[in-house]
Amino acid sequence: MGPAAHNLLADSLVLGIESSCDETAVALVKGDRTIIAQRIASQEAEHAPYGGVVPEIAARAHAERLAPMIESVLDDAGIALNDVDAIAATAGPGLIGGVMVGLVSGKALAMAAGKPLLAINHLEGHALSPRLADDALEFPYLLLLVSGGHCQILSVEAVGKYRRLATTIDDALGEAFDKSAKILGLGYPGGPAVEKLALGGDPKAVPLPRPLKGSAEPHFSFAGLKSAVMRAADSGDHSAADIAASFQQAAVDCLIDRLEKALGETGPMPALVVAGGVAANRTVRAALETLAAKHAMRFTAPPLELCTDNAAMIAWAGCERLHLGESDPLDIKARPRWPLDPDAESARGAGVKA
Ligand code: KG4
Ligand code: ZN
Repeated sequence: MGPAAHNLLADSLVLGIESSCDETAVALVKGDRTIIAQRIASQEAEHAPYGGVVPEIAARAHAERLAPMIESVLDDAGIALNDVDAIAATAGPGLIGGVMVGLVSGKALAMAAGKPLLAINHLEGHALSPRLADDALEFPYLLLLVSGGHCQILSVEAVGKYRRLATTIDDALGEAFDKSAKILGLGYPGGPAVEKLALGGDPKAVPLPRPLKGSAEPHFSFAGLKSAVMRAADSGDHSAADIAASFQQAAVDCLIDRLEKALGETGPMPALVVAGGVAANRTVRAALETLAAKHAMRFTAPPLELCTDNAAMIAWAGCERLHLGESDPLDIKARPRWPLDPDAESARGAGVKA
């Protein structure tokens, strides 16, 4: 590739749209990794009374907010739609109503501006987000993807090439944080609340299980841990802070044990990367940093605002795919389920929820 072509890639501008869960987000990202402008509107207030995300309310909120937010982001950047090189929109997996709102908006913009559409897998957005933050992060890397809906270990070999080494057989880790928060009487979303409460607690105070620790395959299970949290809370023997700290420690111990197992399968990897909402947790990050140092791996965690759902990661995944010459047809469908590695076998016992 000559220098002229290289500059074109660095100059390309991609508008990203994210609407797969409870954040409506729009971002404009440049191929040189600059986030030119972005807006995120959380629906926390709308869903809080229900203790979780209500799909119908989410879809309506995305539909109301998205168009004005797209206008604001372009205004903030002082850029006209016609100056954008491509439109990237999350096309799944997620709550289908919200995904359709974002994808349809992306299609309309792509059609109006005559620019390519990139239908992005939300998980690919999380998986590539560390490369937006860290320009020296090369393929391959071992990725721990921990969010409200997903808990996976992947070998990221190239853009579009993901090998899933492990998944959860029941709850995702973010879900376990959210459910534990509910048990402890904390608000939604639970992760940050549990982390805050745990600061004042003793991580060794409450004996809690480490589900699947030591098992042959690197899969996760968190349903039993959540049940143990419930029993500890019901017993009245422990403070909420001690339970929160002990839960967080048990979860971290599981992550490290399962990652060690995955590394046994892959052999040495140059880098360990964490992404997804739970990557915002400082105790989780610290433990991963120690693990990476032990294995002489580079460690990358995106800044907190890139860990939770956002549109910059969707725009960036769009940049990465655009640079490979890819685009998607305007009749591409939204997908409520969309595995990153379609060849991965389902984990034994998967789907058993406690
Ligand atoms: O990636 P994300 O924003 O949305 C999904 O795609 O799921 O992740 C949200 C999840 C929620 O379960 C939330 O409780 C969790 O990430 N989370 C945290 C923290 N911040 C967010 N969990 C633990 N500690 C945190 N600081
Ligand atoms: Zn997410």
